[in-house]
Amino acid sequence: MSDPTAITLDLDGRQQTALAAPDATLLTLLREGLGNTGPKRGCNQGVCGACTVMIDGWPQRACLTLAAACADKPVQTLEGLSSDPVMVSLSKHFAEGGAVQCGFCSTGMLISARKLLDDEPNPSSDQVSAALSGNLCRCIGYRKIVEAVQAAAQELAS
Ligand code: FES
Repeated sequence: MSDPTAITLDLDGRQQTALAAPDATLLTLLREGLGNTGPKRGCNQGVCGACTVMIDGWPQRACLTLAAACADKPVQTLEGLSSDPVMVSLSKHFAEGGAVQCGFCSTGMLISARKLLDDEPNPSSDQVSAALSGNLCRCIGYRKIVEAVQAAAQELAS
């Protein structure tokens, strides 16, 4: 087994370095190396979407991505978006609209929804459903989540 090596990420706008094994995933580096617990470890095999982060501007599954492949690429997590106006609106409508129950899927959902609103500021319910189709929720179903994303879009447009 190879020794861990130092990997530097452009994480949420800051250069951050931690040791990781050559086969470590980005999810492991974020959670265990850098203490960023926003991305959740659900299935750990690319199915649930709970680990979704933005890599180079695109929502990706951190559990399927090698940490070493992300060196020097911009990686964005929910932690880095706490004052982003779109994320603030999305988070508010998720909370107020009953789109969160256990919250385990929420960070991945919010990252995917944030990307959708970048691309489509006024999405239809079908567009929201398609954008979030890779993020599974097992508590509340999807209607309230879709409504929360559309409510945020309306608020941001006003
Ligand atoms: Fe990565 Fe489920 S933990 S997709």
